[in-house]
Amino acid sequence: MKRYALLATLASLSLCLCVGCGPEPQPITAGLIKDGEFDPEEWGKVYPLEYESWLKTKEPKPVGTSRYKRGWDTDKIVYDKLSEYPYAALLYNGWGFGIEYNEPRGHFFAITDQIEIDSSRVKPGGVCLACKSPYHKTLANTHGMKYLTAKFTDALDMISPKMRETGPACIDCHKNTDMGLTTNKDHLKRGLELIGKKEISRQEARTLACAQCHITYYVPRDRDKKVAGDATMPWTGGSWGNISIENIIADLLTDFRRIEWTQKVTGIDMPYIRHPEFELFSRQSVHFRAGVACADCHMPYRRTGAYKISDHDVTSPLKAELMACAQCHTESATWLKGQIFATQDRTMSLLSRAGYACAATAKLIELANARRAAGSAIDPVLYEKAKGAYMQGFLRLVFISAENSLGFHNAPETGRVLGDSIAYANRAGALLRQALAKAGIDAPADMNLELAKYLNNRGEKKLNFRREQELRDPFDTERYFTPETAKGY
Ligand code: HEC
Ligand code: HEC
Ligand code: HEC
Ligand code: HEC
Repeated sequence: MKRYALLATLASLSLCLCVGCGPEPQPITAGLIKDGEFDPEEWGKVYPLEYESWLKTKEPKPVGTSRYKRGWDTDKIVYDKLSEYPYAALLYNGWGFGIEYNEPRGHFFAITDQIEIDSSRVKPGGVCLACKSPYHKTLANTHGMKYLTAKFTDALDMISPKMRETGPACIDCHKNTDMGLTTNKDHLKRGLELIGKKEISRQEARTLACAQCHITYYVPRDRDKKVAGDATMPWTGGSWGNISIENIIADLLTDFRRIEWTQKVTGIDMPYIRHPEFELFSRQSVHFRAGVACADCHMPYRRTGAYKISDHDVTSPLKAELMACAQCHTESATWLKGQIFATQDRTMSLLSRAGYACAATAKLIELANARRAAGSAIDPVLYEKAKGAYMQGFLRLVFISAENSLGFHNAPETGRVLGDSIAYANRAGALLRQALAKAGIDAPADMNLELAKYLNNRGEKKLNFRREQELRDPFDTERYFTPETAKGY
């Protein structure tokens, strides 16, 4: 407790100290930036240090510093998430993410990466720009459904050529008048209303600037799964600091408007969960409870010339020498790094267990479907129960897979969610095996996952499995539950 109090004091002190002494903070000059100025270059004329730092998100980061988030480093390799997590190719088959799905890289590339992705990924159109372009709110308000459902390229054409590829920009996070923090996304505003959050402190604003995009949302659909509205937070029943995976899943399963795709292997209509950094972090993690914000770890103060500025080269703290942590922690960078890796290794192991448990169960559903189609009597009650449990397991897996910290943002919660994912998937598997046995069908102990079928020849780019990128269970327990021969790749 004493240590906690000391650290918490240090945390708030360090914030004050940065403003109080040492190199001066960047002076703020009011009124020099036009209302509604989107162009960061114009903001950069007034604040060149932050502008230059923001531009650095396009530079590759030091290779070998992060163990699991190898996005765009000096090796210049773009890492393929489906090769890293081969079971994901099977589970996401039937959906854009099952075709091409890369590790994130710097903000500079937010839209470039969308333009370069396999065209099947951007089918929904304008709504895809929700967590990318600073123009999203304006275009959605001006053109409504015409913009949201426009072909992706047509939606981009609504933006001036110079600004078309600009991702997270000054205007997304700052008021032009006094550079105070703000947000530029209606979906976040609606989400916060849904959970009854009104007053926002400065520390909370330093988290919400990121939560504009690093949150989960669904794209509302009609019965044919065509886009029917703007990005929406599945936060019904949640509250500030308590948006649980249970609430998110319950919201996503309320009606057809949240159902976005059909999982090919099982034939099940599914919702989806995208990058829930805010939700996982804010669910009572140690750092959230200590009042630490996203910006504390991803935008630390950094000396630049005569000034101390917030580092706008937003990236993994591991790729920035863990400078951010030193604002509050007295432990060495080596110790902190060891602690991050220890957490991530455990997450990686559980993730692999959950991923393969869901994949094996998906294959059992495929088998049951095929036999039913061929005339076998599969007990409908057992089958429906199994399907429900499988969806619960699968959506928990998606939640942690789509979250980008490999458990660091909230290790105990990550363990809880993955533990439940494994339990639900295995429960579904047991129910299916009973249904199959009752119908006289013998399912092998190790279902062949036929991963090669899903990993190779993907999309228009004909992408293939890149074995050298595969991430393995660091404790090697995976081998027992999913023998190599059963993977089929
Ligand atoms: C307007 C939307 C938006 C906002 C606001 C935003 N991000 Fe991002 N962020 C993205 C997108 C999109 C990507 C992935 C870009 C890509 O892969 O092309 C990303 C990537 C990242 C990455 C990975 C970078 C790398 O080097 O691999 C980090 C870390 C990150 N964001 C943290 C933050 C933090 C912290 C904040 C708040 C200070 C924030 N983001 C605000 C949209 C946003
Ligand atoms: C206590 C420090 C801390 C806080 C607070 C924090 N993060 Fe992180 N974040 C990390 C670490 C450490 C990683 C793991 C980086 C790695 O593995 O390379 C990470 C990873 C990420 C990544 C993936 C980075 C990449 O290179 O792909 C994103 C995106 C991200 N955080 C966004 C956020 C957002 C948004 C928030 C607030 C909701 C937040 N973080 C709060 C420390 C923090
Ligand atoms: C993803 C959100 C985000 C974007 C995009 C962004 N900033 Fe910031 N900026 C922040 C945060 C967070 C702070 C810290 C503010 C605080 O704690 O009050 C900050 C602080 C600042 C400050 C105050 C001095 C300092 O460095 O702490 C200036 C000036 C500034 N930003 C300029 C810019 C400019 C110019 C751009 C565009 C080139 C930009 N910012 C883009 C989030 C952002
Ligand atoms: C703004 C202050 C602040 C920053 C920045 C910060 N921390 Fe912390 N950290 C805390 C506080 C406060 C605690 C709670 C202390 C305790 O429980 O003893 C904590 C606890 C921890 C713990 C132990 C609890 C857990 O989650 O396992 C680890 C590990 C940790 N921090 C790592 C990091 C790393 C790595 C970074 C940088 C990426 C970082 N912290 C950045 C304030 C901070």
